[in-house]
Amino acid sequence: MRVLGIETSCDETGVAIYDDKNGLLSNQLYSQIHLHADYGGVVPELAARDHIMKIIPLVNAALKEAKLNARDIDGIAYTAGPGLVGALLVGASFGKALAFSWKIPALEINHLEAHLLAPLLENPPPTFPFIGLLISGSHTQLVNVIDIGIYNLLGETLDDAVGEAFDKTAKLLGFDYPGGSKLSSLAQLGSRGRFNFPRPMIEKPGLDFSFSGLKTYTAKIIRESNHNNEQTKADIAYAFEEAVIDTLIIKCKLALEHTKLNRLVVVGGVSANFTLRSRFQKMMNQFGGHVFYARPEFCTDNGAMIAYTGTIRMSTMINKITTLSIKVYPRWSLADISPVN
Ligand code: KG4
Ligand code: ZN
Repeated sequence: MRVLGIETSCDETGVAIYDDKNGLLSNQLYSQIHLHADYGGVVPELAARDHIMKIIPLVNAALKEAKLNARDIDGIAYTAGPGLVGALLVGASFGKALAFSWKIPALEINHLEAHLLAPLLENPPPTFPFIGLLISGSHTQLVNVIDIGIYNLLGETLDDAVGEAFDKTAKLLGFDYPGGSKLSSLAQLGSRGRFNFPRPMIEKPGLDFSFSGLKTYTAKIIRESNHNNEQTKADIAYAFEEAVIDTLIIKCKLALEHTKLNRLVVVGGVSANFTLRSRFQKMMNQFGGHVFYARPEFCTDNGAMIAYTGTIRMSTMINKITTLSIKVYPRWSLADISPVN
C-alpha cells in the first residue's frame, strides 16, 4: 500500500510517498522561509498563495523520484490541522480533489500526531508507550503516547512555544526569521557562567511550561548589555539556550517519573537542535532510559511524516469513499484525535 502525503500547514510545502512494505520512496520539500524573512514571521496570505504555486510541481517530482505514476498510489493523506487556515485549505482542497479524480481514499492527518510519529521512520523506532515532547514553532507539549491515536496531554506551554521563544530572541540578536538554529550556532561560541537566566516554572508542580518571561528577561539583558559585541551576543545566546534546555529536561524527567516510563521521544523543529540532543542523551543515560528523535530534516515540517501517518491510518480506515466536502481544523488538539482500531 502506498500513500502520498501532503503538508501545507505553515511555511513548508512537503510531498512524500510512503510504502508500507518498502518504506519511504520519495520526499520533496519546498521551504518558503525567504518569502517571509523580510516580515519577521510567516504572512498567512503569502504562505497560502505560495503553496498553490508549488504543490503540483512537488507531487510530480515525488512521483518521479519514486518512479511511480498515479495508478500506483492507494491513498492521499494531507494535513488538515492544526495550522494556518488558508495554508491548510490549499493542501486539503488539492488532496481531496486529487483523491477524488484518482478514485482513491483521502485522509485527514493531524500535524501534531505526524510530528510525534516521525521517529517511527527511524531504525530502531521507539516502542509504545512513551513520553513525547513536542517542541515546534507553534507548540510545546508533553504527551503520554499510549499507542497510535491514544494521546494523554500531560502539560503544555501557557504562552510562547519553545520555537517561538527561540525565534523572537534570535530576532533581538539580529537574525532573520526563523532564527532558532542560527541562535543555536551562535551559542556554541558562548561562554558558560557570564549570564545566568531563570528556568521558568521549575518550582511549580505540574508539567506546564511558560517561556514568555524568559524571553522578556533575555530582551532586558540584550538592551542593557553591549549587544553589538559578538562575544556578548554569543554569551547571551548560550545562557538562553541553556535555560530552555534545562527547563525542558526537568519537566521531561518529572513526566517519566510520574508515568514510570523510560522512553522519551523528542519531536518538532526544535528537536533538530544538536546541543539539546546531547543534553537529553546525557540525561537519559543517567536516568537509565532511551531517547529517540527523527533525523533532522524530519524534525521540521515535511511530507514524509504525513505520508507515514497516512499509511498507518489507511490500514484501519472503514469508509474509504472520497466525497468532495472539505474541512480543515486550525486548532485540532491531539486529545481529539480518533484512535486507530
Ligand atoms: O516543526 P516546525 O518546522 O514548525 C512548526 O510546526 O511550528 O518548527 C519550526 C521551529 C522554528 O521556530 C525554528 O526556529 C525551530 O523550529 N528550529 C530550531 C532549530 N531548528 C529549527 N530551534 C532551535 N534550534 C534549532 N537547531
Ligand atoms: Zn510542525
